[in-house]
Amino acid sequence: FAVLADCFHCPVKGEFEFNVDWLLLIDHQGDIAATYQPQHPEYADLLASFKRNNRLQVIPKGEYLLPGLVDLHCHAPQWPQAGKGLDLPLYDWLQNYTFPLENRYSDNAFAAIVYQDVTKTLLANGTTSAVYFASIHRQSTELLAQTCLNVGQRAYVGKVNMDNSEQCPTYYCEPSVTEAIDDTELFVNNVFELAGNQSRLVKPVITPRFVPSCTSELLQQLGSLVQRYDLHMQTHCSESDWARDYSIQHYGVSDVTIYADMGLLNNKSILAHSIFLNDADIKKIKLFDAGIGHCPLSNMYFANAAMPARELLDHGVQIGLGSDIAGAPSPSIFRASFDAVSHSRVREEGVNIYLPAAERGTANARISFVEAFWMATVGGGQVLDAKVGLFNQGYHFDAIVIKANTTIGNLRIWPEFDSAKDILEKIITLAQPENVAKVWVQGKAVI
Ligand code: GUN
Ligand code: FE
Repeated sequence: FAVLADCFHCPVKGEFEFNVDWLLLIDHQGDIAATYQPQHPEYADLLASFKRNNRLQVIPKGEYLLPGLVDLHCHAPQWPQAGKGLDLPLYDWLQNYTFPLENRYSDNAFAAIVYQDVTKTLLANGTTSAVYFASIHRQSTELLAQTCLNVGQRAYVGKVNMDNSEQCPTYYCEPSVTEAIDDTELFVNNVFELAGNQSRLVKPVITPRFVPSCTSELLQQLGSLVQRYDLHMQTHCSESDWARDYSIQHYGVSDVTIYADMGLLNNKSILAHSIFLNDADIKKIKLFDAGIGHCPLSNMYFANAAMPARELLDHGVQIGLGSDIAGAPSPSIFRASFDAVSHSRVREEGVNIYLPAAERGTANARISFVEAFWMATVGGGQVLDAKVGLFNQGYHFDAIVIKANTTIGNLRIWPEFDSAKDILEKIITLAQPENVAKVWVQGKAVI
């Protein structure tokens, strides 16, 4: 089929393209076969032919086609606690709120309800690709993978690994390295089988929670699984002083070095947070071509700090955005984009207003909203090593239609006053589920 629409995307980091009346041809697999500008010699004929065969989707004026958003870090089982409980620091938050909730997912019936709701909610917010932490339970985590297949969301799903009895409560701790690894390998194979010919849509991810919750034997053997099956890997990295200090105290090196030494890093690893990196860490992440899932709002609560996003982008580190449900309350990657910009701006002026202006902040620390949108789409796709986030030939057709001026919702566009750049900025800043009129994943309409 073909789609005729006014489209935004960001082929170049920091810049955007706005293509009016763009014609996108989607092949039988759901990939973008070709794109045509109105001035192309074959444009009129192609348009007429798709219209004649009833295979043309026309997106009305005032609605905009954007690449689907990529959420690099979401804890699906924490969805019931989104929007509450952020009064505690990370360690206490895990012990008091999060582990008891995650432990409920030994109950598949409960898991089914939450997983259906969270995947649908993310889709409704325009997230076409999501990277999920589940819980330590293999069966309900497989159910999450199946749910993603059912609702048609591109997903990377991880059964959480945690076996360190000194850090994990007895009721929520894998019993031994052997059992943890056997269970995880079975999970990986079951997800491959479940996804079958849709293996492009849903993939398993090796998921050590973070250094404190795992023994070194477990990390090492998970690294072997990553290598043996060439798998995605996700974990938390340098997200707070406490988490980072734990690695230094127990291993004498940073968590990045631990992950690298254990064989856990490759070109599709997702390191959530990663805000306290030193130059050696950054070098190592680049060496392995690993990526960062930037979760700005959760950094405010668990690190009381803002990521140096400007510096990491300038270093050319692969970086996308994450919601970090429920370390932050919003399931929207538009919201994460807006927060990423705001936090970079606060860094620039600094927060200690008692210092003289010149000494307060970090000069030129800001990122632009276009860079944030690039991270939300292209950057996320690069981290995942997936062809998503752009409307280029050969990319998967993962796309959303944003409708402005709906009766409910805050997004208003004034054609007389708003340039294309203004429209994109307003979408990022104000779009809500009410404005997400249509969602395609791999060429299939899912909303
Ligand atoms: N670090 C270890 N576990 C978690 C978690 O569930 N959420 C966040 N934000 N950080 C973590
Ligand atoms: Fe997290």
